[in-house]
Amino acid sequence: MSHFTFLSAGESHGPQLTVIVTGVPAGVRLDRERINRDLARRQHGYGRGGRMKIEHDEIEIVGGVRGGETLGSPIAISIRNADFKNWEAAMGVWEVDANEAHKRRVHAPRPGHVDLIGGMKYDRRDLRDVLERASARETASRVAAGAIAKELLRAFGIELRSGVVSIGPAGDPDRATTWDDLGAVDDDSPMRAVDRDAEAAMVAEVDKAREAGETLGGTIVAAAHNVPIGLGSYVQWNEKLDGRIAQAILSIHAVKAVAIGDGVAAAQRVGSEVHDPIYFDEEHRYHRTSNRAGGLEGGVTNGQDVVVRAYMKPISTLRRGLPSVDIETHEPHRSQWERSDVTAVPACGVVCEAMLAIALADAMREKFGGDSLGEMRGNFEGYVARVGEY
Ligand SMILES: Cc1cc2nc3c(=O)[nH]c(=O)nc-3n(C[C@H](O)[C@H](O)[C@H](O)COP(=O)(O)O)c2cc1C
Repeated sequence: MSHFTFLSAGESHGPQLTVIVTGVPAGVRLDRERINRDLARRQHGYGRGGRMKIEHDEIEIVGGVRGGETLGSPIAISIRNADFKNWEAAMGVWEVDANEAHKRRVHAPRPGHVDLIGGMKYDRRDLRDVLERASARETASRVAAGAIAKELLRAFGIELRSGVVSIGPAGDPDRATTWDDLGAVDDDSPMRAVDRDAEAAMVAEVDKAREAGETLGGTIVAAAHNVPIGLGSYVQWNEKLDGRIAQAILSIHAVKAVAIGDGVAAAQRVGSEVHDPIYFDEEHRYHRTSNRAGGLEGGVTNGQDVVVRAYMKPISTLRRGLPSVDIETHEPHRSQWERSDVTAVPACGVVCEAMLAIALADAMREKFGGDSLGEMRGNFEGYVARVGEY
């Protein structure tokens, strides 16, 4: 059972995205600017397509909040698609113009997208009916829900950050990255790179790919700081928080692999170079001097930063197309191209942050419950005091 979750609806070129967030206790103060800033961060990044020049995402909250404070009821959010005005004739809810719909029709599916399989599964002959919802425009909903999760986590001192460590061949996907390293990431920089020295090479790779009609993926590190000991559990497979975080991150469009802490690199090392030794002194109590485990042991948070690495594949819409088939004629046909990103790794980092926040907010609600923030905080403080004396 989810204790904090969200549902979303809306097509990429439809009128709006609608998000309903459940599991927020009453009494959480929301900061509209902070939420909108996260939406703007998702729109940023070198290598994005023309769509991001059209949209200026902002939330409109239409339920669950009064005077800037949550009521404990579901929170309903809408995010308008500014591009809808250019698509209304083809994407109208009640009526579509046959000519416009024909012009926008997708009949040569893109390998790497769900166009073909979605058409078969949902019995749609215009593959636009599939890609409109499968599109990563949906990630704006995730960032809005994640921003609400962050507001809740912030009330307990928990913060999140992310940064890009590689784009295509530039940078280092294994780069050791701490919370402080992520603090140096400049959201206004082209790539939101952890290593500022690698940024120019990343930009050059994107330029090269754009010129060749190609696309690029990359690697992101997302982390959470001040996470209490004991979120998640080892007692059942589906209570393990590492598994729950992995699901949240892997569900992001184009993310094909995820590692907790040194995950992937650790598989090639000996045990003594992987595990984080335990120390004790009166001042610091139990503590570690390394965090290779990424803050999780046995599916339970250990009080260290939760560190997640996400691997994003290259965008599947290539300007030069890929071998495919026309679904009407069954003849060979290059996959269709429409305005698309060359890379979206910097934006994907913001989405990873949001999904990590959602997984952690869910685990916090599971552990500390309460209908109001005050009740939840009472439970939290009692528990943290007890663990501190262990
Ligand atoms: C922030 C973000 C932006 C994306 N932008 C595009 C895009 O412009 N064009 C595209 O073809 N795919 C884009 N993608 C990737 C596709 O949405 C994704 O590859 C597709 O939905 C297929 O899903 P899968 O790769 O998870 O199997 C983007 C992904 C993210 C996270």
